[in-house]
Amino acid sequence: MTATQHVTDIAPDGQVAADLVTAYRENGFVRVRGILGQQEVERFRTAAESILAANRSDSTAGAVFSQLVNVWRLDPTARELTLHSRLAGVAEQLAGVRLRIWHDQMLVKEPHNETATEFHQDQPYWPHEPNRHAISAWIALVDVPPERGCMTFLPGTQHVTGLRPQDLNEEDDLFEADPSLRWLPRVTVPLRAGDCTFHNSHTGHMALPNRTGLARLAHVNIYMDEDTRYSGAAHVVTDPLGLTAGDRLDGEWFPRP
Ligand code: SIN
Ligand code: NI
Repeated sequence: MTATQHVTDIAPDGQVAADLVTAYRENGFVRVRGILGQQEVERFRTAAESILAANRSDSTAGAVFSQLVNVWRLDPTARELTLHSRLAGVAEQLAGVRLRIWHDQMLVKEPHNETATEFHQDQPYWPHEPNRHAISAWIALVDVPPERGCMTFLPGTQHVTGLRPQDLNEEDDLFEADPSLRWLPRVTVPLRAGDCTFHNSHTGHMALPNRTGLARLAHVNIYMDEDTRYSGAAHVVTDPLGLTAGDRLDGEWFPRP
């Protein structure tokens, strides 16, 4: 294999192999290589760089990462990536249910940020009622080896529910919330640009620090069960929408891709 050869786990009909589905169901995460073609990566990366340059002041910048939420509402190219049918198709194949977009986010670890995103689950942050299949597609728009801040997962923890939200800045917080998780194997998953990991919203995960001179650029599509309802809790996406607890999260903000 040469460095430029495109490796993909996606069949021409958009499906992934059954063993990747099995791995996702067993472990709560899976890597899917080459979910974007090389020209797509180029286009989405260029758009991401412009969006970041234009919206830096709106991004939530911390030591861990800079975050821009719902970029699909800002830019037509980002919208194509968030609503990409190949990504949504694989997410539904893995989750085994119909999904809709909860939100997207661009997550940038600046060059030499030297700060990990510490272990956490995503679901406890979200104002959702029944939503057992929520799944994030973390798409690498640049090569992301461990030293640039790829993700590490705790296999099997998709079955761990009911924990309080965990602090992304605290190395020990998830393990204090559930000490049984401390001695699980930890699986680090490097990605080439155009590769993607999918993880269930309960799967414990972290991202390593960026120790390189190149920004780590990731675009994340977060899908939730099609019938998810609003719990009434505060969240930056739902706060402006005037929702009442029990409302279905559907309509223009939460499209089916
Ligand atoms: C990160 O990219 O730094 C964290 C992503 C996540 O928590 O899902
Ligand atoms: Ni997360």
